[in-house]
Amino acid sequence: MKVSLAGLMKSGSKADLFVTGYFKGEKDLKALKKIDPAFAKAAETAISKKRFEGKTGESFSSYQAGYRQAPEMLLLGLGEKKDLKAASLRKAVGTLIGLANGRKAVKVRVLLDSFLGGEVAVEETAKIFTELSFLAAYRFTHYKTPKKEDLPKAPESIELVTEKKELVSRLRPAMARSEKIAKAVLLARDLNNEPGNVMNPPRLAAEAKKLATEKKISCKVLGLAELKKLGMNGILAVNQGSVTPPALIIMEHGKEYKNQGTVCLVGKGVTFDTGGISIKPSKGMEEMKYDKSGAIAVIATMGLVADLKLPLHIVALAPCVENNVAADPQRPGDIIRMYNGKTVEVLNTDAEGRLILADALSYCAEFKPMAIIDAATLTGMCHHTFGDKTCGILGTDQKLIDAIQKAGEKVGERCWQLPLWEEYGECIKSHHSDLRNTGDGYAGTITATMFLKEFVPEKTPWVHLDIAGTVCCTANRFDCPKGANGFGVRLFAEVLSSWSPKV
Ligand code: BES
Ligand code: MN
Ligand code: ZN
Repeated sequence: MKVSLAGLMKSGSKADLFVTGYFKGEKDLKALKKIDPAFAKAAETAISKKRFEGKTGESFSSYQAGYRQAPEMLLLGLGEKKDLKAASLRKAVGTLIGLANGRKAVKVRVLLDSFLGGEVAVEETAKIFTELSFLAAYRFTHYKTPKKEDLPKAPESIELVTEKKELVSRLRPAMARSEKIAKAVLLARDLNNEPGNVMNPPRLAAEAKKLATEKKISCKVLGLAELKKLGMNGILAVNQGSVTPPALIIMEHGKEYKNQGTVCLVGKGVTFDTGGISIKPSKGMEEMKYDKSGAIAVIATMGLVADLKLPLHIVALAPCVENNVAADPQRPGDIIRMYNGKTVEVLNTDAEGRLILADALSYCAEFKPMAIIDAATLTGMCHHTFGDKTCGILGTDQKLIDAIQKAGEKVGERCWQLPLWEEYGECIKSHHSDLRNTGDGYAGTITATMFLKEFVPEKTPWVHLDIAGTVCCTANRFDCPKGANGFGVRLFAEVLSSWSPKV
């Protein structure tokens, strides 16, 4: 797909669909009259007959071969002009793409000026149009056998047009940036929608290497032998139930900025989570292919930060395993010595994410980071608490938590904080070892995070995102079809783009 911006031309090639935004109660159809008096007339009639009022999500279209810009003209309701917010505009653009797709419109032209309202600045409007066009048009068709009657993928191009020609050169860089961000999200979706029999740890490592080569950043993969040598027994113990080897993917961007500090990103990469011997119920288990979402979010983010040329040293670590029951799986009660020397009694093999993250978090010490942020589909409890609307955020640095939360609001990937008080640490102490990998059954999201905290290098500001509920859409959504949605990439991009060591 292509999203472009140009000055409005009264004549020229026709599109399949021309879209104008319309705010409730808008009297002045001047712009539309100039563009096509015939359509303006049809719209006026529809409005006066109350067939169309401009309520949010409402639409009115009319088809006539003689229309100037396109045979079909569409008005999209945007609600009250003063109330327009970034979130509602995002939804409107998602709806627009859905309507264009339903009409099989390949070439779509949109009057950008007609979508300006509320507090959303024109630059933000152009960014949202670009980003949401890509996100909403996304489909994962890799395993669908093409049929002869398949029509061209619609829409193929979104031409934003404006009457304010001076905007064109001003908005294009912002749009180019949004396109890069959107494409990184789509890459994350593609990798994550791949099933467990395909996207296993070695394959994910190969994808990370491919991306790193393409974006000219470094990527190192520690395999079975190296992990053994290092004593990364958390990663090894989880993977011992799988016949496929584990991988610790390490990607690095911006080495030249090292003297200004390093940020480590860590992502949970369980390419499939059966639960291990503490096996999960079969119903819905297929969703555990998304247990690699954290790893994929950080991998895709690394490609993006390279694309955006961010002036910051960033290291991503993605421990990747398959939590399975073949080979020689962990037994409940097993005690393992982790990379940082602490011992853990594995009471539940389904609490595997914290075991692999623990080793990766401790390993961050090698990079002496000024901050660590991890993302993991860590607890079912977090999904229960927040549903799919927000991820959990917990950590040891309130300023960084606040900055991430603010970034999340901005990009539409929300985070909500849970406490990390010492008292919650009591129930992860073990009788026969230093720690146990489950709590007492309560406050599961918090106790899992308390466990991680034991492995974070001392005095390093650290924030954990529990993304268990937010990473996939269980039904089609305005910005994403059912499946992986790429959560985390836009959040990381925003946080890292506005990074200051004193956030
Ligand atoms: N990957 C799951 C968490 C999860 C559950 C993510 C549902 C998305 C949707 C994680 O590895 C897990 O199984 N956690 C257990 C921990 C428990 C055994 C202490 C859980 O949440 O039930
Ligand atoms: Mn699990
Ligand atoms: Zn898991």
